[in-house]
Amino acid sequence: SNKTLLMLPGDGIGPEVCDEVRKVVDWMDKRRAVTFDIKEDKVGGAAYDAYGTPLTDDAMDKAQNADAVLFGAVGGPQYDNLGWDARPEAGLLRLRKEMDLFANLRPAVTFDALLEASTLKPEVVQGLDIMIVRELTAGVYFGEPRGMQMWEGKERCIDTQSYTRDEIVRVAEVAFDLARKRNKRVASAEKANVMKTGVFWRQTVAEVHKDGGYDDIELSNVLADNCAMQLVRNPKQFDVIVTDNLFGDLLSDVAAMLTGSLGMLPSASLGAVDEFGRRKALYEPVHGSAPDIAGQGKANPMAMLLSFAMALRYSFDLGDDADLVEQAAQAVLSTGKRTLDIMSAGCEAISTSQMGDAVIAE
Ligand code: NAI
Ligand code: MG
Repeated sequence: SNKTLLMLPGDGIGPEVCDEVRKVVDWMDKRRAVTFDIKEDKVGGAAYDAYGTPLTDDAMDKAQNADAVLFGAVGGPQYDNLGWDARPEAGLLRLRKEMDLFANLRPAVTFDALLEASTLKPEVVQGLDIMIVRELTAGVYFGEPRGMQMWEGKERCIDTQSYTRDEIVRVAEVAFDLARKRNKRVASAEKANVMKTGVFWRQTVAEVHKDGGYDDIELSNVLADNCAMQLVRNPKQFDVIVTDNLFGDLLSDVAAMLTGSLGMLPSASLGAVDEFGRRKALYEPVHGSAPDIAGQGKANPMAMLLSFAMALRYSFDLGDDADLVEQAAQAVLSTGKRTLDIMSAGCEAISTSQMGDAVIAE
């Protein structure tokens, strides 16, 4: 069966790092006889320039019908003063909303070769491999009521943390399913000590664990503030961490910095499984469009390549090929080749395109 991949390179370094993914796609076609049907469209500022909107209905349709979407990055100073709906980010938000991408996967994996340049204690981060699963479409970033109101004669502002049972169940299931393919441990982070939604989150995750047939997975509960502390103190105690939208935003950024550069961090956003057994999915690097280095061949393509590896593993059931890409990334770094963002003394500076070639060679 044909595997359809929609590429939305976007702005700034987005197209540059996406070009390196094409090299891996070509390699898989020639060497592994795995052929992708690649579609491409514009998103963000590039789509605004061409069509006057950050995502056309046609591109949205392509995304809904693809097996996986590879998203580069959007944004740039020339678009900063556009209206709310024309902003480049609106293209990404529309994709997330209409594809209902409720589970954001942010792996934090250390690269041995980058450890010596790290300011963190090597014994704390060496061999780290954790996965943060953040609920992405509900919680306090979306809850109603929100905004300004008058209350007892005073102005006040409200955001509302809100979760339905289904919204918790589906993200918990993603976390348990992931843990089963990893080290079979899930830590659920909330603030059940001070938040009603925290109590409900904890209860619901426990129910999914018990009634969903996940008794092979070890579940623990951790208060979100303690989780932040534990991530810095001893991150290797964790395997999968599942948490809400707000805490996930913070905890995933903490976890990210345990591993090093923004140029090395992939992510996946998953939706529901449809009637054909296919899960909606979008893969993107954590970094943005990096206008300061765009067009100069300086971008590190690893975050994008590792995002593609996640697509191979989670959308195409090609875990062995995902392993190959990830091992090649580790191997390239071990040879001392570096883009500027991860440069350190005695290493060889190479360009975006040379980094892609080096991954293919490994
Ligand atoms: P950024 O992630 O684009 O860049 C932050 C810093 O990290 C810059 O100095 C950049 O050169 C460096 N950097 C980022 N990725 C790199 C890579 N692959 N290789 C080497 N160096 C890299 O974040 P910033 O500067 O806050 O935002 C720039 C633009 O990107 C803005 O328009 C922002 O709105 C947008 N943005 C888009 C995102 C997305 O598309 N998902 C996410 C974050 C920001
Ligand atoms: Mg964040």
